[in-house]
Amino acid sequence: MRIGLLTGGGDCPGLNAVIRAVVRKGIKAYGHEFVGFRYGWAGVLDTNTVDLDENNTSGLLPRGGTILGTSRTNPYKEGGGGTAAIVAGLEQAGVDALIPIGGEDTLGVADKLAADGVDVVGVPKTIDNDLAGTDVTFGFHTAVQIATDAIDRLHTTAESHNRVIVVEVMGRHAGWIAASAGLAGGADLILVPERPFDVDECCELIRHRHDRGRTFSIVVASEGAVPKDGTGLTTSSAGVDAFGHPRLGGIAVMLEKEVEQRTGYETRMTILGHVQRGGTPTAFDRILATRYGVGAIDAVAAGDFGTMVALRGTEIVQTPLSDALAEPKLLDPELYETAEVFFG
Ligand code: F6P
Repeated sequence: MRIGLLTGGGDCPGLNAVIRAVVRKGIKAYGHEFVGFRYGWAGVLDTNTVDLDENNTSGLLPRGGTILGTSRTNPYKEGGGGTAAIVAGLEQAGVDALIPIGGEDTLGVADKLAADGVDVVGVPKTIDNDLAGTDVTFGFHTAVQIATDAIDRLHTTAESHNRVIVVEVMGRHAGWIAASAGLAGGADLILVPERPFDVDECCELIRHRHDRGRTFSIVVASEGAVPKDGTGLTTSSAGVDAFGHPRLGGIAVMLEKEVEQRTGYETRMTILGHVQRGGTPTAFDRILATRYGVGAIDAVAAGDFGTMVALRGTEIVQTPLSDALAEPKLLDPELYETAEVFFG
């Protein structure tokens, strides 16, 4: 068989480990040929391809980003051509089956293709960890480690200057990165989208901590954290992407001003942004991505199309693509409540 691979959506540490695993096992065990589409669905629509073999996919385990490039191209957007355009691109590249690696948008396209009879096996990825159907996505662990390292560093400078530091992390509308990194980094307050916050209550908590003798505080704010109605604070938004998602970011800018004004404590903010997606994956993510890659090529060999690989407990399983698409997987309240013990 000749199998196509693509990476879509935001890049994520571990994408290259999936590509390496799919190609290595596919050649070794099944004698398949592989073609990579460059820049996600754009590469299928433009037939922008690169042949993949054992040589050009070796040495990829520690490498961040994606050797195929990525984009947020939506083939089902008006003028995008939909299934017909994708099928034409796949035929031109001589592809029998496709393995798209991506988040809810990429897997949403894969699900539509599967419904139209295209042989597809998906691989879920996102640093946000908000994809349903799987316990964990690769990239998340790396993002949490990067954010935790940053919080550790911010602690020493916050303490030296007696400051409040607000650190903004990614995660879209789920608080997994904020709660996990905040818990691991010993945050004094964590704001997540699942729990709208009241800025006065936040300030009260910080005041309480300083009243008991602490001279600095670390606040971790998820980019998607929202104030309760009536506080007059908003997260800035700069338009939407091809799948209609708003671009988040900037809540820390508002919080810096509000916390300083209301408490009188000197406050600074840091937005970690894309640093959380860059660089080498952790060992955990390399292993998970490799297991996903091997699972995906085995699923292709078994003819298990219209599915994606997933982690359930410690097992890699196949699950319908639609499982990932129904509702986002929001933060486990128990994790937040554990972190909450250490607030204030
Ligand atoms: O979904 C991953 C993610 O990094 C989110 O956490 C973030 O909101 C978004 O992508 C940023 O997207 P972009 O790279 O297009 O700015």
